[in-house]
Amino acid sequence: MRTLEWEDNKLKLIDQTKLPDELTYVYCSTYQDVIRAIKDMIVRGAPAIGVSAAFGMALAQIAGEDMEKAASQMKNARPTAVNLMWAVDRVMESDDILKEALEMAHEDVSTNLAIGEYGAKLIDDGDTVLTHCNAGALACVDYGTALGVFRSAFSQGKDIQVICDETRPRGQGASLSVWEMQEEGIPVKLIPDVASGYLMSIGKIDKVVIGADRVAHDGIANKIGSFMVALAAKHFNIPFYVAAPFSTFDKEISIFDTVIEERDPNEVIYYGGVRICPKGTEVINPAFDIVPKELITGVITENGVIDLNNLEKEFKDLF
Ligand code: MRU
Repeated sequence: MRTLEWEDNKLKLIDQTKLPDELTYVYCSTYQDVIRAIKDMIVRGAPAIGVSAAFGMALAQIAGEDMEKAASQMKNARPTAVNLMWAVDRVMESDDILKEALEMAHEDVSTNLAIGEYGAKLIDDGDTVLTHCNAGALACVDYGTALGVFRSAFSQGKDIQVICDETRPRGQGASLSVWEMQEEGIPVKLIPDVASGYLMSIGKIDKVVIGADRVAHDGIANKIGSFMVALAAKHFNIPFYVAAPFSTFDKEISIFDTVIEERDPNEVIYYGGVRICPKGTEVINPAFDIVPKELITGVITENGVIDLNNLEKEFKDLF
């Protein structure tokens, strides 16, 4: 089962808005369908939206669309994950976009397996590991980055316990990460977002591994709440790792210049379809935040673990 697949000249996506109760699919037959699926978070997670956008561009090429227009609309579907821009730029260099998109889908899986291998070395037998949001198979084509690290550690026979933050407001930790770990038979428990600091304070978390929507020389951007988890981890001296492929790296900017997506207030106002605040309440709903490099122990990539605080020594040419 893959998060996304090319089937009968269409892009087939798992509808992530229906999980965990229903495993259903959405078929995109135009590039506009793909843009809608990304905006509505039928497909989400940085690598998954990147590869979906590549297939969307293939649909645009097959239909003889204005490619510059399609590229610009596609890149604007969501602003924070750099994989989206990276993927559209990459396929625009190619004459055969479908071939390139298929190649990218294939690469995504081997990249994640490599991240898993490097990351598993950092996980000890008996560790309890915390993750935030969903940086799993569902956020990629398959296997996942942060959850890929847990998959690899578990498949090596390490006894691990995964703790998932529920990840308000959209609940990707609860609905997606818990589901993935359960499907895999990896021990998993769900906590409210606000509980991670307390669990760290009583020694119940050994390591944190999260994904990223963007990695720059001075930090990372990831799902809202990542910063607070990182702060708490630093306070208690708990290793805080970010698992991300090079397609998530942005060499151009300081991480503090990342455009943070602001989403629909209704995501906060309603919980499970029920309004939880007075009518007319004003809401601030940023979808991502920034974790500065000082709070990050290492970035687990397909080529090894990078210490952003020591870039001159290793990976000199990266940024
Ligand atoms: O808003 P989402 O669900 O797209 O946010 C996803 C995340 O923040 C993930 O952690 C990130 O994209 C990395 S996925 C490997």
